[in-house]
Amino acid sequence: MNIRQATVNDLLQMQTTNLWCLPENYQMKYYFYHLLSWPQLLWVAEDFDGKIVGYVLAKMEENEESSSKHGHITSLSVLRTHRKRGIATALMRRSQYEMEHVFQAEYVSLHVRQSNRAAFHLYSQTLQYEVNDIEKGYYADGEDAYDMRCYFGKHRKKPVSSVAEITQGVEQTQITAS
Ligand SMILES: CC(C)(COP(=O)(O)OP(=O)(O)OC[C@H]1O[C@@H](n2cnc3c(N)ncnc32)[C@H](O)[C@@H]1OP(=O)(O)O)[C@@H](O)C(=O)NCCC(=O)NCCS
Repeated sequence: MNIRQATVNDLLQMQTTNLWCLPENYQMKYYFYHLLSWPQLLWVAEDFDGKIVGYVLAKMEENEESSSKHGHITSLSVLRTHRKRGIATALMRRSQYEMEHVFQAEYVSLHVRQSNRAAFHLYSQTLQYEVNDIEKGYYADGEDAYDMRCYFGKHRKKPVSSVAEITQGVEQTQITAS
């Protein structure tokens, strides 16, 4: 297993993985928009045969009222066959590290379905996100979303200090520096 920064050649497989895993899907131009704007925030998990088995798609946003910069997780998926091995945790930590250190983000935000137990555990327990708000009827089928945030730096409960720490928990994972 290899966690590495995504390239343009990965976008189609990322989109396919998204289609397998989530009802929220995006046109290819939206993937290109992310890659061209914030290439440091897109990471993939690649199996030994070169197949993409997980990805994180993320972007930067600016708060109009406070001008505080923050990252936002647009999408995250790991193929069912590769779950519960720490892959999503590693992808998230890598993208978050870049948000904080490349873009000086103060925090990262995301939306998650209230019924998504696996993702909620990942965000709230493993990565220490907190619920910022509940957005009623956020999803197309009417389900509510938790609007969650994780603060970086001095606001963070557990500071992340090294790339080794970021990738902890991924079994037999080789990390490719970007
Ligand atoms: C949510 C998802 C990305 C997690 O991926 P993953 O690679 O299996 O996650 P990890 O192995 O890094 O696990 C992280 C934590 O979540 C826990 N977890 C994973 N799946 C779980 C499940 N089905 N139920 C409860 N906890 C679960 C793990 O035990 C681990 O907890 P720990 O750190 O306390 O040991 C994956 O299930 C997925 O792709 N789901 C479909 C798409 C999706 O829901 N994306 C998120 C949209 S917001």
